[in-house]
Amino acid sequence: MRIYVLTLFPKMFEGPFSESVLGRAQDKGIVEIVIRNIRDYATDRHRTVDDYPYGGGAGMVMKPEPLFAAVEAVRKEIASGTEEGATEDGPIILLTPQGRLFSQKSAVTLAAEKELILICGHYGGVDERIREHLATDEISIGDYVLSGGELAAMVIVDAVVRLVPGVLGSEESALGDSHMSGLLQHPLYTRPQSFRGWDVPQPLLSGNHAQIARWRREQSILRTLKRRPDLLENALFSPQEKRMVEEMRRDASK
Ligand code: ADE
Repeated sequence: MRIYVLTLFPKMFEGPFSESVLGRAQDKGIVEIVIRNIRDYATDRHRTVDDYPYGGGAGMVMKPEPLFAAVEAVRKEIASGTEEGATEDGPIILLTPQGRLFSQKSAVTLAAEKELILICGHYGGVDERIREHLATDEISIGDYVLSGGELAAMVIVDAVVRLVPGVLGSEESALGDSHMSGLLQHPLYTRPQSFRGWDVPQPLLSGNHAQIARWRREQSILRTLKRRPDLLENALFSPQEKRMVEEMRRDASK
């Protein structure tokens, strides 16, 4: 998979993309992350990337020309690339607080793409023609405003890359994550068995795999019910689990 990030602040990505899972995914050659400076595609003498908004108002607006040029250059590169399965119609995603909300489901969908192009918006916003005629998708990582799309792009790249096969040590480590099953993750414990009088729950010490799996599933459901009951609406349950959820709900309302 190849991910292009178009930004006015390439240096912001140096640390986050070189460490941990993202660093290893690139070292292994499973994922290539290419950072492009939008300013390099400005053609005027001052390499202008933004301008005042028509009609007035606070803040500067990102101009369309450099961004269109940057995306077109990247697309050309993809088309001429030798990478197997390279496509010219992968998503071009604008990061903006006005986009659809990012979720684990979006991460799973994006992880199946061969190429992604992420555009980091900045300043007061971007020229509307970028939204209408360049971006194929607009994504927000939450209902708050960041100073730019860079941190949002990092969040998305991290969530997506860890789902690409081969990136994590075992597929299971992503499957067990919170949200993958539509539920929050169960509690985890490691040694010591007793710490300051707080003991590891008995089922985890039983050595009985079925009992452990049952306990974990129950804890996941319980935790989701307490913290994020909204998630239970879309989670898949066996008939037996459905009865358990009802029971937990009744207990919780007592
Ligand atoms: N740019 C500024 N705020 C953002 C957000 N919440 N999500 C994505 N991009 C952004």
